[in-house]
Amino acid sequence: MNHPRRRPAVLGRGAVVATVPVAVAALLTAAGPATAAGTVGASGVGDPYFPFAGNGGYHVDHYGLTLGYDPASRHLTGTAVLVARATQKLTRFDLDFKGLKITGLTVDRDKAAYKRSGQELVVTPSRALRKGQTFRITVRYNGKPGPVTDPDGSLDGWVPTDDGAFVAGEPQGAMTWFPANNHPLDKASYDFTITVPKGRTAVANGVLLGQSTKNGRTTFRWRQKEPMAAYLATATVGKFKVKQYTTRGGVKVYDAVDPREASAAAPVLKKLPSVLDWESKLFGPYPYRAAGSIVDRAPSVGYALETQTRPVYSSAPDLSTLVHESAHQWFGNSVSLTSWKDIWLNEGFATYTEWLYDEQHGGESAQKTFDSLYARPASDSLWEFPPADPGSGAHIFSDPVYARGAMTLHVLRTAVGDRDFFRILRAWAKQHRYGHGTTAQFERLAEQESGVRLDKLFKTWLHTKGKPGHP
Ligand code: TRP
Ligand code: ZN
Repeated sequence: MNHPRRRPAVLGRGAVVATVPVAVAALLTAAGPATAAGTVGASGVGDPYFPFAGNGGYHVDHYGLTLGYDPASRHLTGTAVLVARATQKLTRFDLDFKGLKITGLTVDRDKAAYKRSGQELVVTPSRALRKGQTFRITVRYNGKPGPVTDPDGSLDGWVPTDDGAFVAGEPQGAMTWFPANNHPLDKASYDFTITVPKGRTAVANGVLLGQSTKNGRTTFRWRQKEPMAAYLATATVGKFKVKQYTTRGGVKVYDAVDPREASAAAPVLKKLPSVLDWESKLFGPYPYRAAGSIVDRAPSVGYALETQTRPVYSSAPDLSTLVHESAHQWFGNSVSLTSWKDIWLNEGFATYTEWLYDEQHGGESAQKTFDSLYARPASDSLWEFPPADPGSGAHIFSDPVYARGAMTLHVLRTAVGDRDFFRILRAWAKQHRYGHGTTAQFERLAEQESGVRLDKLFKTWLHTKGKPGHP
């Protein structure tokens, strides 16, 4: 498959749930986020596509996750310590956490009352939290985690494999293996301590601080210092061949590869340093101190995810998939979404990076790639909706987001010229580094950097359904 990160027939299936926005509006009201009293944290951040994603009333600064996983029994034991800060007075707040059994929950060492409802873990601390107060939530839990099914029918979260687990959380799955403020609006640093049977490897994000084996079990300690959205966290477990090295630029690379995928993966993974170098020239400095790849064998997943610093692949990737997931480190990971509706800011950018890579490495020009897509008839699903308005969570990983999103960038490039186009991309990565960006902010930046009026271009290509007239 040319694009293993995408699942087939996403568009076809998605069309069935076109009425979701209406249901969503109802849910938002039913959930009754912080109203008059104003001391109850909202059950969501207000994302219309995923109304219960994230929570109101606090931000998480740090997650400390201590996990033990036994692939044979598929049993997970976890302790999550969240350091958070209240943004309002809180008599009650929610976390997102689905499935696993909770055996203890404290807020600043005091036992807290809690109840569960769907993905909401509703916590009532013994004393109200003051606005601005830093507090620590400790949740102990265990059980047999499994994935969630997304609105488009794909699996995400903790996906058991024959030798461990494939762990990827976009858009919703983080809450299947740790309690989180599960929306990209809230980014935090992470520490992972993961214990697995000797012979298995547990790979998370960031830098490996150390590993040690005792009584037939190995513990891996990982640290992700730069801010990360919960969906980009991983703790993938398997029998992996591991390779570690440092690039000339000082980035620590850790590759973990399922031996059954090793011969197919090797020639592609070898290119990671040169791909990151090339992308750094186009987009500005690589945002992280660590990099690498996790190549698993997870046939039920069928896509890759740009897990921060170290993408996870459900089978050996081809080069353009590696280029794509690497581009997300700038676009999607360092510069995060504020709302899932803006997903083209991730996928359009990563897809256009594939085109640019081809163009600059002896392949097809971006113009040719554009032309062959543009040749698709007006009835093609590519034109079904505009990139910046997928309509619901069921459509966020489909063609209009990826391909037409990339086409939009190409039209922009043609309109402003190469110099300004690449200046816009670099300015975007720089101004929103480790933060967030919106479609409106990108449009404004493109006009500022180029001095060209672009409202019509963006209106046509990003916001209007149907096949645009020839640019
Ligand atoms: N963001 C991933 C990529 O483009 C793809 C992805 C993540 C995905 N979760 C998904 C695709 C769920 C389909 C369904 O690299
Ligand atoms: Zn992508």
